[in-house]
Amino acid sequence: MMTPEPPRLSHHLEELEAIENSGFYSNYGPMNTRFEQEMISSMFKEGACVTVCNATIGLMMAIRDVIGECRDPRRRYALMPSFTFAATAHAALWNGLTPLLCDIDPDTWLPCAASEEYLLDKYRDEIAVVVPYATFGNNLNLERYDILSVRHNVPIVVDAAASLGSINEDGRSFGAGFRWPVLFSMHATKLFATGEGGVIYCSDAERIARLRAMGSFGFETPRSATAIGLNSKLSEVSALTALLQLQRFGAIVAKRQSLAANYLEGLPGWKMQQLRGKQQAYAFQSVLLPSYLKGFRHEVIAALRAKGIGAGAYFSPHLAEQPYFRQHGVAGPLPVTEDVSQLVLTLPMYNKMSEAQVGIVTGALLDCCQEAGDSLSRVSA
Ligand SMILES: Cc1ncc(COP(=O)(O)O)c(C=O)c1O
Repeated sequence: MMTPEPPRLSHHLEELEAIENSGFYSNYGPMNTRFEQEMISSMFKEGACVTVCNATIGLMMAIRDVIGECRDPRRRYALMPSFTFAATAHAALWNGLTPLLCDIDPDTWLPCAASEEYLLDKYRDEIAVVVPYATFGNNLNLERYDILSVRHNVPIVVDAAASLGSINEDGRSFGAGFRWPVLFSMHATKLFATGEGGVIYCSDAERIARLRAMGSFGFETPRSATAIGLNSKLSEVSALTALLQLQRFGAIVAKRQSLAANYLEGLPGWKMQQLRGKQQAYAFQSVLLPSYLKGFRHEVIAALRAKGIGAGAYFSPHLAEQPYFRQHGVAGPLPVTEDVSQLVLTLPMYNKMSEAQVGIVTGALLDCCQEAGDSLSRVSA
């Protein structure tokens, strides 16, 4: 379904040798500093960022940092959508918070504003942090979250795991200028593929400085902990991979845009995620199966597999359906999440995929659905 293609380090022996000669292998070394600086100058244009060893740890740290601002022990919930990845809920739980799960919008699949507001009103002073997910790289309305944080006196951490390459309605990279931390993943399966890694961005350089110290054992001064800490540093070799990915990233994002357009053309009338903003960074293509196939996704995936096509179902099960979060979380009404999660089908996308290959996938999917529909009507007849 996905063919991860991080930059090939074996083609960059000179840069690897430069790392060895520098004597720095980690600890926010020169390669890491260069990557962070280039992220700001070429992508965000303002603010500051710090790398992390993965976005899950970054989420844990960012949540820890912002909840420091609302010490009230009654605040025990982290409000997030149920239609997201387990990492978001785990990051809240590691901070001693209970995931409070809201619904999504039926078109954009972003967290539903009405559902968030309902839970914010219902749990009022018990919510420690709001953690919206920019679903599959779609662009959240960050202005709304800024207003919401003031109105409800609650901090925000944005899970933007899949959003490197996404462009807001104002033409800026997603997250640029936002005063609360925004978490991006550089996992091998993301569009910004490196292997393991992540970036915390924020317009507030002081917050980033604090998070940098947190990620290095709470050392704000050399070898002396003045704050809570852990080790979230990115190695210099990983920073090199990230820098090489950044240098070729524009072409990768553009290629994915054209593959997404091919999918749209190949599946006319199919329900897909509605874009918010100017550009979405596609790691894969999500579609909703026709509703008559509810309960038959497994068969469709198996039929595609038989034709040599990998497909999946992100995010199914959604968080409220997973045993650990059922036990340790609280869910509001989730009618749209239930619907989308039961019908969502994740289709292949990779950098070397051709328009013809998209045609093969869409043709095979249409055939599978036709066959499944025919056998269903035979059964009901
Ligand atoms: C929505 C979401 N949040 C967080 C993460 C965690 O990212 P990482 O794998 O870099 O820890 C992922 C990873 O897939 C994700 O999809």
